[in-house]
Amino acid sequence: MKFADTLARPAVQALAASKIREVANAGIGRPGVLPFWFGEPDTVTPDFICQEGIASLRAGETFYTHNLGIAPLREALAGYVARLHGACGTENLAVTNSGMNALALVQQALIAPADRVVVVTPVWPNLVEGPKILGAQVCTVALDFGAAGWTLDVQRLLDALTPQTRLLIVNSPNNPTGWTMPRAQQQVVMEHCRKQGIWILADDAYERLYFDGEPGRSVAPSFLDISTWEDRVVSVNTFSKSWQMTGWRLGWIAAPQPLIDDLAKLIEFNTSCAPGFVQRAGVRAVTEGEAAVASFVARLKSNRDFLIERLNALPQVQAVAPPGAMYAFFKVQGVHDSLAFCKRLVTEFDLGLAPGAAFGPEGEGFIRWCFAATEDKLADGVQRLARGLQTV
Ligand SMILES: Cc1ncc(COP(=O)(O)O)c(C=O)c1O
Repeated sequence: MKFADTLARPAVQALAASKIREVANAGIGRPGVLPFWFGEPDTVTPDFICQEGIASLRAGETFYTHNLGIAPLREALAGYVARLHGACGTENLAVTNSGMNALALVQQALIAPADRVVVVTPVWPNLVEGPKILGAQVCTVALDFGAAGWTLDVQRLLDALTPQTRLLIVNSPNNPTGWTMPRAQQQVVMEHCRKQGIWILADDAYERLYFDGEPGRSVAPSFLDISTWEDRVVSVNTFSKSWQMTGWRLGWIAAPQPLIDDLAKLIEFNTSCAPGFVQRAGVRAVTEGEAAVASFVARLKSNRDFLIERLNALPQVQAVAPPGAMYAFFKVQGVHDSLAFCKRLVTEFDLGLAPGAAFGPEGEGFIRWCFAATEDKLADGVQRLARGLQTV
């Protein structure tokens, strides 16, 4: 057998490995490293949610479940989505093994080889690489950075959404920039996609981590608010961020009912179902987790203000407070290779940050910092960054 016989197919070989992982792999396990590279808080899942999972295991819920999720979770999610965004029934919902799994399933359901997929960037790299696994032609439309932070030139996006386009992927609030698509832009894009028959995949993972919402009801504008189940709109969501459940691997898809029927088949041939005890914990999170969400959002908002102020005190740094998500994505004067710089920050200063280049070419020169950490850690991190910047 020749070496070439044991290679993956070309589309898989061509995938770009995550540069966030590349930095983390250089630093994981170093004693004393301050990790801000991944999108997760430094706190464990709220105890009342953990207890529900434990109780479920004790009750012997260790079996396969329905492909689309246990009925109590689908019912709880239907109520939750309806409360936030308007009419939603259990027939519009599929429970998945994480937001990432939900994205992969929706892409498998909608994308055929050579389909044109448009993605707004900079963005979490999984959203750009995922469609390529299926042979899609991915076209990116970049946000612009200025004094007001990150903004979208909506006309440029409309120009990219040609009649040949199959799918638009929008992550709002956005990882890494925090950019949140304003309602007026959503309406224009929705109208255009309706006319052209283009599917919209809304990655709503951070919808609750939104700092400009109504008091006590943090939720970002979503395509779900302005569409009906007759539209080609799919929303993907996760328990990871709103309820601090990254390690549980639980998510969901909200979609028109006919698509849910096909997704059930795809779920069978992917993971078959999410674990029952994890789903039970999810029911508790959705039905009793509002206070936990509110206090997490308040903590993030205060962390954001704390970090942005300190970052802007560094002469080479330009940081704008993001309206959503959990990241500062700041520009650093003199850094032209963010991957090399972030690797140096880890190995020489024990500071773990994500390189902006991981999120697309327009992210080069920027660095992402997850601020879901204590003020002590954030302040210590800023001091380490200041020392690192003296060497640029
Ligand atoms: C934009 C975005 N979407 C989806 C996810 C998926 O999260 P998970 O797979 O943990 O549910 C993440 C995780 O970082 C994300 O940043």
